[in-house]
Amino acid sequence: MHSVAELRLRARARLPRVVFDFIDGGAGDEAGLRRNESAFGELCLLPRVLRPCRERDLSTELLGQRYAMPFGVTPMGLCNLAWPGTDRALAWAAARAQIPYALSTMASTSIEEIARLAPEHAWFQIYLGGDPATADQLLARAEAAGIRTLVLTVDANFTARRLRDRANGFALPLRKSPRLLADLLSHPHWSWATLRAGAPNFENFRTAPGRRPSIQISAMLQSLAQAHIDWDILERMRARWKHTLIVKGVLHPEDAQRIAALGADGIVVSNHGGRQLASVPASIEALPAVREAVGPLFPLLLDSGVRSGDDIAKALAAGANFVLLGRTFLYGTGALGAERGPAVTLEILRGELDTAMAQLGASRIADLRPDLFFQPLQARAVRQGSIR
Ligand SMILES: Cc1cc2nc3c(=O)[nH]c(=O)nc-3n(C[C@H](O)[C@H](O)[C@H](O)COP(=O)(O)O)c2cc1C
Repeated sequence: MHSVAELRLRARARLPRVVFDFIDGGAGDEAGLRRNESAFGELCLLPRVLRPCRERDLSTELLGQRYAMPFGVTPMGLCNLAWPGTDRALAWAAARAQIPYALSTMASTSIEEIARLAPEHAWFQIYLGGDPATADQLLARAEAAGIRTLVLTVDANFTARRLRDRANGFALPLRKSPRLLADLLSHPHWSWATLRAGAPNFENFRTAPGRRPSIQISAMLQSLAQAHIDWDILERMRARWKHTLIVKGVLHPEDAQRIAALGADGIVVSNHGGRQLASVPASIEALPAVREAVGPLFPLLLDSGVRSGDDIAKALAAGANFVLLGRTFLYGTGALGAERGPAVTLEILRGELDTAMAQLGASRIADLRPDLFFQPLQARAVRQGSIR
């Protein structure tokens, strides 16, 4: 496997359709999902020559911590659907590679276990609202487990219209039907692995060890994910969480400016991977205006549509300080299982980024700057008046 595109194809073949579509799909007609990827594809980088960079240093600093590479794993619920053990395997691989792993509120592994596996590299993502006491308990657990970076997601206040999930009748537990049975039988490797490991669950919402999260808990999770959080809540959260606070899911420059002014430590420019609303700009398209609004020094992360080391280089050159990837990592475990998937995916991304930097004449992450972008011929010709 040499690219994320190959991993995706292999994952599509190995996972039941209901599962692959949950991971791969987006909101509505999926225009936002496609745009995330095509916007990266349309950007070209212009290599600089005669700049020897025999050694490339991929490490970078973000919010007071040094990471070996300028990217990490973005929070994703129910990762273990991609393959049993995905949460744990990704956290462990991230810690080994010295990059961050963000555990979702909706994860299928407990906060404590992930914090043990990745003591310096685990972040925790929270959906706020619904029942404040539950959110508070989660924060207290994250803090007690030693987690020091909290990601507050603010762009998932409503249940999205994901048409593939609707067509497949996606629900948890998976709804029994002849169609599901046929889907499972035609993907025996996944089905057998999942049968042996047990279906993934919302591990952080068990009322007691060994007890399955109940229906009421699912309903409560729904309300958490549909919380109407507002500026007052963000302000309270800033006062409550004494450590690093990153706000995720921002596209509008005015929102970014206000969030920064409220004291957040960083922002993830993200359209949730095109999973919430179809008619959104790609995150990479929204980034320049957000950068302009918050100034050159404010820490900005970016996710959505990043599928290669070249994309990572583009996001950094466009003004992001750090990049997060979601589906890319689930394609990896879906394709190769939890044991091999994370390491292979990381090596693909590292190798591509390293090669891109070598070609661009960039020996350090700080060398990835906006002057490396090529103006598409068409735009230049229009500006010069030769095309009208
Ligand atoms: C299967 C899946 C589950 C997700 N669950 C969460 C979640 O629990 N919390 C969250 O903030 N974002 C969640 N996201 C959104 C990601 O954090 C991220 O914004 C998105 O995946 C980035 O786009 P990409 O997949 O194209 O890299 C999820 C994404 C996927 C694909």
